[in-house]
Amino acid sequence: MDQDNSDWWRHGIFYQVYPRSFQDSDGDGVGDIRGIIERLPYLVELGVDAVWLSPIFPSPMADFGYDISDYTGIDPLFGTTEDFDELIAAAHDAGLKLILDLVPNHTSDQHPWFVEARSSRENAQRDWYIWRDPAPDGGPPNNWLSEFGGSAWTYDEASGQYYYHAFLAQQPDLNWRNPEVRAAIHDVMRFWLRKGVDGFRVDVIWHLIKDAEFRDNPPNPHYLEGRPPHETLLTQYSTDQPEVHAVITEMRRVTEEFDDRVLIGEVYLPLHRLIAYYGNDLRGAQMPFNFALLSTMWSARSVEKIIADYEKALPPGAWPNWVLGNHDRPRVASRVGTAQASVAAMLLLTLRGTPTLYYGDEIGMRQVPIAPNQVRDPFEKNVPDIGVGRDGCRTPMQWSAEPYAGFSTVKPWLPLARDFASDNVASLAAVPASILNLYKALIALRRMMPQLAYGNYEPVMAHGDVLLYRRRSMDGVAVIALNFGAESTAITSSAIGFSNEILLSTFMDREGEKVEGMLDLRANEGVILGPPLRPA
Ligand code: GLC
Ligand code: MG
Repeated sequence: MDQDNSDWWRHGIFYQVYPRSFQDSDGDGVGDIRGIIERLPYLVELGVDAVWLSPIFPSPMADFGYDISDYTGIDPLFGTTEDFDELIAAAHDAGLKLILDLVPNHTSDQHPWFVEARSSRENAQRDWYIWRDPAPDGGPPNNWLSEFGGSAWTYDEASGQYYYHAFLAQQPDLNWRNPEVRAAIHDVMRFWLRKGVDGFRVDVIWHLIKDAEFRDNPPNPHYLEGRPPHETLLTQYSTDQPEVHAVITEMRRVTEEFDDRVLIGEVYLPLHRLIAYYGNDLRGAQMPFNFALLSTMWSARSVEKIIADYEKALPPGAWPNWVLGNHDRPRVASRVGTAQASVAAMLLLTLRGTPTLYYGDEIGMRQVPIAPNQVRDPFEKNVPDIGVGRDGCRTPMQWSAEPYAGFSTVKPWLPLARDFASDNVASLAAVPASILNLYKALIALRRMMPQLAYGNYEPVMAHGDVLLYRRRSMDGVAVIALNFGAESTAITSSAIGFSNEILLSTFMDREGEKVEGMLDLRANEGVILGPPLRPA
C-alpha cells in the first residue's frame, strides 16, 4: 500500500461535541468549556482520539455560533480564553486531539468587519463582503436563495445596495476573492494553531467562492414537493466554483506551517464533485466529509453501492472517511431505528476510513420531539413544519438518571429526551450488551486490529439484507457480516474462511464462537470474524 499510515488522523476516531449540549458546568442550562473538561475522562474511556467542537466563539447566536462576531475570542456563554487554554492542555494530557470549527464563509452581521463594510460604499472594508446594486426593478441582484428561506440578498437602505448571505441575513458572506479576507482568515487559523489546536473542520467549504458574474441559478428539475424552498434552484453559480480549490490549497498551506494538523471540509455534494475537494495532487482538504450514509436508504444493497462507488471514486492516495450523524441531520438511531443503530455502529467502525461519531449516538440517542414553543433553530423558524428543524438532534447529552440527566442543574436550553432516565451513560455502562458497550468494544477492536483501520476494503458477494466485506492488511484479515433485516439469515459463502471465529457480535454474546464456512445471523445482527486474537 502506498498509504502513509503514520498520520494520526488516518487511524484516529473523531467525536463531534456540540458544546451547548454536552455538559453545563455553571448552571445556566447551556453546555460550556468547563463542562467539556469535566467529561474528558468519558471520552478517553470511550476510546476516541480527536474531539471536534462546534463553534465556541463570540456570537449573537442567531445560528447558534455559526454567526461569529470575533474569530479569536471565546463566547462568555462557553467560558473564557483561560478555560479554553485549560481545555486544550487537558485534552492533550489525556492523549486527545482538539479540532475547532472554522467558519470562513460568513461572519455575524455584528462582526466589526461587517459593521465597517456596511458603514458606507467608500469604506476600505466594503469589498470584504459581497455587495451588488439592485436589479433594474429595484429587487435583488439575482435569483439566489438563502438555505434558511427567502432571497439570499438583503437590502441595505443606508447604502442602497444588497449584500449576499447564503444563510441568515445575520450571516453575511465574506468575499473570498478579496486577498485581504484570505489573509485575515489565515491569521485566525494561525492564532488557534499556535495555541496547539490540531486542525479545523471548515464550515460549508464548497460555498466559499461564487460566480464572478453572479448569474442566475437554474431551476432544479428534480425538486421534490415538501423539500425546503431553496432546493427549487440548483446552486450552479452560487457554490462549488472551480476557483474554490486554490482557496482551500492556501488554507492547507497555512495548516502545514505547523506539524501534524488536519483540514476537514464540510461538503454536501454528489460524489463526483465531492472528491475534487481532496484537491489537485491531494493539496486540498485531507478529509472532505463523506456524508453519503446520512441520506442513503438503509438497506444492504444501497449501502454496499455507496461504499463501492466511494472506494472507486477516491483519487489515488486520498484517505476515506465516514459520518453517521451531525448537528444538522436527524439522529442515526431515529433514521435507521434502534435495532439497526448497532449495525450502523459496526459499519461505521469497520469501514475503511476515518469515522466521525456524533455525541450521543454512542448511547443510541434519538431525535427528541420539539414542541412549537420550544423551537430554537432559525431554519425551522423560517421554514416551518416540513421537518427541517435541527433542534431534535441537538438536545442535551444524557449522562445519568439524575434531574436534567446530569447535564445541568437547571432546565436545559432544549428539552431532554423523555426516556433519559433509562437511556443514559451511567445506566447503559452497567448493561453489558448496551449500545454504549458495543461502541467501546468496536473502538477497542479497531485499535487492536490494524486491518480494521488500514486494511483494504474487499466486498464479498452477498444477497438480500446481508452486507459482507473483508478488511485485509499485512496484519491479517477481518470479515464483517451485517444483517440489515429484521429476519434471521444464514451465510453459506466460503468467503467467510476457515479457522475464523466471532470476535464481536452486535449483541455481544458470541465472542469466541467458531465458524466453519457457515454463519447464522440473527435479525439485526452484525458480526466481525477473524482469526482468534489470542491463541486458545
Ligand atoms: C453548516 C453548519 C450549520 C450552519 C451552516 C451555516 O452547514 O453545519 O449548522 O447552520 O453551516 O453556517
Ligand atoms: Mg453553562
